[in-house]
Amino acid sequence: MIHGDLVFSKTKVSEGIIMKQSQLCSILALGALLASPAAWSAEGAAGGLQGTVHDFTQATGLTPNTNPPAGIGDVGLCTYCHTPHKAYSTALLWNHTLSTSNFSWDIAKTTAGTDFPTFRGDTYKGATAKCLSCHDGTVAIGDIAWFAEGKPAILDPMQHAAPEPANIANGANMAGNHPVAMPFPYQNQGSTYNGVTTGPQISLDEWQPDPTANGIRLFNDDGAGNITAGPVLASTGIECSSCHDPHNKKTADDLFLRGTLTGSDTNYICLKCHNK
Ligand code: HEC
Ligand code: HEC
Ligand code: HEC
Ligand code: HEC
Repeated sequence: MIHGDLVFSKTKVSEGIIMKQSQLCSILALGALLASPAAWSAEGAAGGLQGTVHDFTQATGLTPNTNPPAGIGDVGLCTYCHTPHKAYSTALLWNHTLSTSNFSWDIAKTTAGTDFPTFRGDTYKGATAKCLSCHDGTVAIGDIAWFAEGKPAILDPMQHAAPEPANIANGANMAGNHPVAMPFPYQNQGSTYNGVTTGPQISLDEWQPDPTANGIRLFNDDGAGNITAGPVLASTGIECSSCHDPHNKKTADDLFLRGTLTGSDTNYICLKCHNK
């Protein structure tokens, strides 16, 4: 459920809510950062987590703490996503409370006839569910399982709710979003992944045979619901982290992208999988 207030809301700033000058400055600075891709551009790409929007030790403007003693600035770089002990899931040692949304798209099939999947945020094993634990707007950013010997009060009461751009899903509704948790036609063959099989109308020659050669991360599904990184013939799929690297290590551009956001050459993110 949604906890806390929308400290970050630009509407509130423009409505003239009274706040400390320092808070206001950092919120405005963050607004400028989000508004301008150039503010965190290619120079920041591949530089690691520090100083990015996924560095929650730095996010003072984004996430004012109102739950002392443990709060923003007190946590480590990994805390909001991973924990060494008492994690929600052993896989990825995942620390962030998962969304209970049952994600789906607004249409049944892609043009190729591939079914869009439905999957629950708290049971699907792919990385997409981990991303959506923060990016569907239903769970507070600081709602984690374990930190410093206990489950903390919500570290960061702020959460981004619609229409924040970072909420790419509107709760369970994935309408308008590129397929994820879906099969990829690795080596120009159909795949079955997350219970979905590549549709019969797919143009198999219009895909890069092996996007991992282009810096894309692909995943495989063993058929029992276990998802690991790496393509396997006929059971390969894509997740959010196929296009984005949340750690900002294998990135080529801002927005944690594994390819460039602009252009038309082979580094352009879309051409790393599609052959159009
Ligand atoms: C904003 C959330 C977030 C933060 C912060 C974060 N991670 Fe991750 N991490 C993820 C996600 C999501 C995945 C799954 C990525 C994938 O599927 O490619 C992941 C995967 C991993 C993996 C699995 C292997 C791999 O490299 O993909 C390791 C190890 C890891 N993270 C370590 C760390 C460490 C250490 C830190 C802190 C220095 C950290 N992460 C910070 C979200 C995060
Ligand atoms: C612990 C919560 C959390 C997790 C988990 C998480 N994110 Fe984020 N992410 C955020 C926050 C907070 C922001 C920035 C705040 C905003 O824009 O409202 C952000 C911003 C982003 C951005 C925009 C970057 C920019 O420069 O503006 C992208 C892209 C992104 N995340 C992708 C992902 C992907 C992909 C995953 C999973 C692999 C993921 N995130 C997992 C919290 C999270
Ligand atoms: C097919 C590649 C691809 C996949 C898969 C993908 N993204 Fe993105 N994402 C992009 C591109 C390209 C952009 C930049 C263009 C834009 O903002 O839409 C982006 C932008 C974003 C942003 C920033 C939006 C903004 O304007 O601030 C967030 C947050 C994000 N993605 C999260 C996710 C999450 C979470 C998932 C999985 C549910 C995901 N992405 C899956 C390619 C992808
Ligand atoms: C990681 C690989 C990958 C990347 C990168 C990628 N795509 Fe896709 N794309 C896919 C897969 C897989 C499908 C689903 C194929 C199917 O229908 O079976 C797909 C489907 C599509 C579709 C068809 C949707 C429909 O309903 O028929 C469009 C359009 C599309 N992608 C556009 C883009 C754009 C634009 C980008 C760049 C922002 C991009 N893709 C980047 C893998 C990728």
